[in-house]
Amino acid sequence: MRRLDQLLANLGYCSRREARAWIAAGRVTVRGEAADDFGLKADPADVRIDGQPPDHPDGLLLLLHKPVGLVCSHDRREGPNVYGLLPPRWLQRNPQVTSVGRLDKDTSGLLLLTDQSELVHRLTAPKHKVPKTYRATVHADLPPGLAAVFASGTLRLPDESAPCAPAELSVLGPREAELTLTEGRYHQVRRMFASQGCEVLTLHRVRFGRLTIADLPPGQWRELPLDCFAPVAG
Ligand code: URA
Repeated sequence: MRRLDQLLANLGYCSRREARAWIAAGRVTVRGEAADDFGLKADPADVRIDGQPPDHPDGLLLLLHKPVGLVCSHDRREGPNVYGLLPPRWLQRNPQVTSVGRLDKDTSGLLLLTDQSELVHRLTAPKHKVPKTYRATVHADLPPGLAAVFASGTLRLPDESAPCAPAELSVLGPREAELTLTEGRYHQVRRMFASQGCEVLTLHRVRFGRLTIADLPPGQWRELPLDCFAPVAG
């Protein structure tokens, strides 16, 4: 049960003050009756706003194909961001829709967006070791033995004391490979390749846990069920 004025404001329809005006104007109904008390608590399933059910009242979980050139930060000073791809109302929601971890501006591929902060914590916490797979092209031929270096669990990146956790490299071609990580340090893939003399030219995340980007076009998203990452029973 949620207060009507709070429901409208939190789902991004308008401010709480405006919500009170919407309610007074009869734009909000509960079980078919115009609600005149903005403090009324109602089950969102019984609520209609201008005749329509509330927009994703339980939360949002999206799988976005992030194009290159957009940042994951909400800070406008950092340039155009991925949130600009979403319907404007979703940008006004509280809690805010945010990315699960980040991809660099120059990285494309699978990015999860959600307003479920508990999910963000669970999927980004190092102890959960969610595997993420990146396809990289590099400027020169991959050195022999690279897979063993990345798998060793002893690779140290400059200025970091803890070695990288073992990562799996699958070579796709002389200058192309997929790397699966279970951690998410700053620019980790680019820095791991750089530590072995390879500059990453393109980077694309193809997998996050069990999810793949499949043939979703850049800039498009699909909705995922909120329980998508619930532990599988049995
Ligand atoms: N590693 C990187 O270097 N960049 C990303 O965007 C993601 C992982």
